Amino acid sequence: MFTPIMSDRSPDSSTAKAWSGRFSEPVSDLVKRYTASVFFDQRMAAQDIRGSLAHARMLARQGIIAQEDFAAIERGMAQIADEIATDTFAWNLDDEDVHLNIEKRLTALVGDAGKRLHTGRSRNDQVATDIRLWLRDSIDTIDMLLTDFMRALLWVAEQHADTPLPGFTHLQVAQPVTFGHHLLAYVEMLRRDRERFADCRKRVNRLPLGAAALAGTTFPIDREFVAQELGFEAVCENSLDAVSDRDFAIEFCAAASLVMVHLSRLSEELILWMSPRVGFIDLADRFCTGSSIMPQKKNPDVPELARGKSGRVFGHLIGLLTLMKGQPLAYNKDNQEDKEPLFDTADTLIDTLRIFADMATGILVKPEAMAAALRQGFATATDLADYLVKRGLPFRDAHEAVARAVRAAETKGCDLPDLSLEELQGFSDLIGADVFAVLTVAGSLAARDHIGGTAPNQVRAAISRLRTAL
Ligand code: ARG
Repeated sequence: MFTPIMSDRSPDSSTAKAWSGRFSEPVSDLVKRYTASVFFDQRMAAQDIRGSLAHARMLARQGIIAQEDFAAIERGMAQIADEIATDTFAWNLDDEDVHLNIEKRLTALVGDAGKRLHTGRSRNDQVATDIRLWLRDSIDTIDMLLTDFMRALLWVAEQHADTPLPGFTHLQVAQPVTFGHHLLAYVEMLRRDRERFADCRKRVNRLPLGAAALAGTTFPIDREFVAQELGFEAVCENSLDAVSDRDFAIEFCAAASLVMVHLSRLSEELILWMSPRVGFIDLADRFCTGSSIMPQKKNPDVPELARGKSGRVFGHLIGLLTLMKGQPLAYNKDNQEDKEPLFDTADTLIDTLRIFADMATGILVKPEAMAAALRQGFATATDLADYLVKRGLPFRDAHEAVARAVRAAETKGCDLPDLSLEELQGFSDLIGADVFAVLTVAGSLAARDHIGGTAPNQVRAAISRLRTAL
């Protein structure tokens, strides 16, 4: 829509700015482009109109502007909303941002009533209101998408509540878990993510309007009424803070960063599991791409890209923290730089969640590969140690006895349950024929039968609890 900055030499002969009376020369084209935000803040147009209408309704209700002026503003805004929706609104760089573009058009449409809209208001409290309205909508979308993704994971987890998978620590086979249990770990992370966004939303959902430029206004405004009109839970209680606070945006980016950490960890696992060296899963073709040179390749591009995109979201968090740290009260133009990182954070997260909810159901599980990997890592060694402890051996001694058994099995090139009873008894005379029940993967899984454990019936119970909570 706009051409990039080319030169600062061409003089600006544009129409008067909102503050032109104070100035003896116009800004250069370069400055105009440099200071404008309409390139990116026009996506808050709907929120800007909503905020303006609530403000105008309050002004009329308080007798600050006439009812006819409010009616004219309402009429003009309806047309503007329509022009924006049908892409016929003429965005103009001379008017710097979404707020001035809309106000100027309103005045062109309805005359003096349009010029009265800004009574008792500043762009400082206006922009803070718009961002909060915009972010509140984004949080609601994200909450819905997190829920969709959790439901999808629960669906896969349910199919695999009994499917054994090696559980890893240090990326070494540790103990058997079920694939369903493994997926539920991510559902727990996402559950906390939802809580974080819900908590962040409380602080987003406060009304800055009424703070005006920084100190409040001399007009007899009714902030509570505006808050109610816009669905805000309360008003921001200090005018200086209202126009300058961006904590809520930083919190949002922090919550988004944590979701991206979780998605990136899952991505890393999907990539690893899909490697032919591991082969635990395959991903549906629609989430993979081929290679332009190697005909045999099927690459997990979607999880790789999600892992990569986490970096830009973390970057936006650091960007916003840095943006705020040096700012004295109250509003500073620096704050205009809050929008692009915030928008990109929301866009990246929303796109990623949407694709992950879809991709979850495209995970093709290969139980034989998981079972084969389990046979290689002495995954039931802890079960043997626990068995000895239950027969009275102190845990440290049991640990030592089993370590020797593992070493013997390794030398022999077999798994623990492949050793004969006599061989096993060589490591402890407490071992009886019943030991083989605990050395099997199914026995190991079923034995971890408590809340949070990997026993298949516990996995199923957790799924049903999570479903109820959703
Ligand atoms: N475009 C500005 C922003 O995004 C709006 C507020 C401008 N206020 C001002 N006093 N320059 O933050």
